Amino acid sequence: MGTAPEVSINTYPDGPLLVRGDYVVTDGKGNEIPARRRTVALCCCGGSSIKPWCDGSHKSPGCAPDP
Ligand code: FES
Repeated sequence: MGTAPEVSINTYPDGPLLVRGDYVVTDGKGNEIPARRRTVALCCCGGSSIKPWCDGSHKSPGCAPDP
């Protein structure tokens, strides 16, 4: 019998990546970016003003996620 994954990542069309579990998010230098929640949304459209987190800007006209 398998065990449940410690981290799960779900994609949403034209939206963020939803990360759940015991994850660690780091910047390009390997420094940890503190997250206060067990579930976070990572911006994948580039339009967020609070990157790496999603702020809902992907819903705005002109914010086009990668295909
Ligand atoms: S995916 Fe939501 S602001 Fe980028």
